[in-house]
Amino acid sequence: PGSKVIFSGIQPTGIPHLGNYLGALLNWVNLQRNAHPDDRLLFSIVGWHALTLPQDPKLLKAARREMLAVLLAIGLDPERSIIFYQEDNPHHTELAWVFNCITPMGRLQRMTTWKSRLAISRNARDESEVDESHLNAGLFTYPVLQAADILLYKTTHVPVGEDQQQHIELCRDIADTFNRTSKLARPFFPLPECMISPTPRVLSLRDPSSKMSKSAPDEKSRILLTDTAEQIKVKVRGAVTDTPIGITYDPQSRPGAANLLTILAACTGEDVMKVATRYHDKGHGQFKADVADAVEEMFRGPRAEFERLKGEGAYLTSIAATGAEKARALSETTMKEVRSRLGL
Ligand code: ADP
Ligand code: NA
Repeated sequence: PGSKVIFSGIQPTGIPHLGNYLGALLNWVNLQRNAHPDDRLLFSIVGWHALTLPQDPKLLKAARREMLAVLLAIGLDPERSIIFYQEDNPHHTELAWVFNCITPMGRLQRMTTWKSRLAISRNARDESEVDESHLNAGLFTYPVLQAADILLYKTTHVPVGEDQQQHIELCRDIADTFNRTSKLARPFFPLPECMISPTPRVLSLRDPSSKMSKSAPDEKSRILLTDTAEQIKVKVRGAVTDTPIGITYDPQSRPGAANLLTILAACTGEDVMKVATRYHDKGHGQFKADVADAVEEMFRGPRAEFERLKGEGAYLTSIAATGAEKARALSETTMKEVRSRLGL
């Protein structure tokens, strides 16, 4: 097996929550740590994707810088990984246009992600209520832009949450369609594989029937990477759990307790069943206090580093510039060949 190219992106839409961290960002840091020296890693803050829902320009500007500070604070290393703003490399939208022209509408119609995003943005109760006349073309073709993000660097592996799996399948289809347009000894684009995060979905602290999400109205439903020890304590104490004595891992009938066990196990790096055994005869008060402590301990270092980096404007700007330069140098090669194959 040859060396890997690993690409992943995150939208600059606010400080990441515990779900984003355990489901995506922690995985990125671990991949960086365990990567073979020949592997290439790229992590992008994808501003064009953020525009698929309405954004306040001032807030977006601050959020993209905050996200860069977060990525560095959690341990992504700009010497090892290419860290950049998507919109600093014009090749992303260029390749997305090429892909838009070979992607059937019907294929995009079957995606479920735009339906749920549209439902959230329209405050609809569920996806069956969404009125497609409010759907903008950008939100509809978002997965095509994502395919361009990935294939621009001839990515072989994409760490994503399970909700994104359907996008990677589309990306493979697009790569395959493009590859077929010309007969070559070797396919032009690799068919990238998903690397699904080992942590199960983190659930809302207030409603364990839904996932922890930055768009839920109740701010106590999520823990942010920048929350103080006190804020974390209050949120975990307020987490919805059932009343039976003792703690057991039973995601079906006790989703609230199971979610806290998942979180605790992810924080300490232990197996969730082992953690459950340790708490089987403990009270909810002690259990929640320990969960809060574990989260706080995990976020303490990144939070302090984030606070420091936030003030380092010139440093952040130079990191972004270097990242974009490296990204563009790679995608330049891809785009030259794409254009020449298309006769442009
Ligand atoms: P949100 O749903 O809060 O808007 P995003 O959709 O921006 O978050 O997700 C960014 C990344 O975090 C994605 O890779 C997604 O799979 C992951 N992610 C988001 N929420 C969770 C969660 N509750 N548990 C695990 N991973 C999550
Ligand atoms: Na989301």
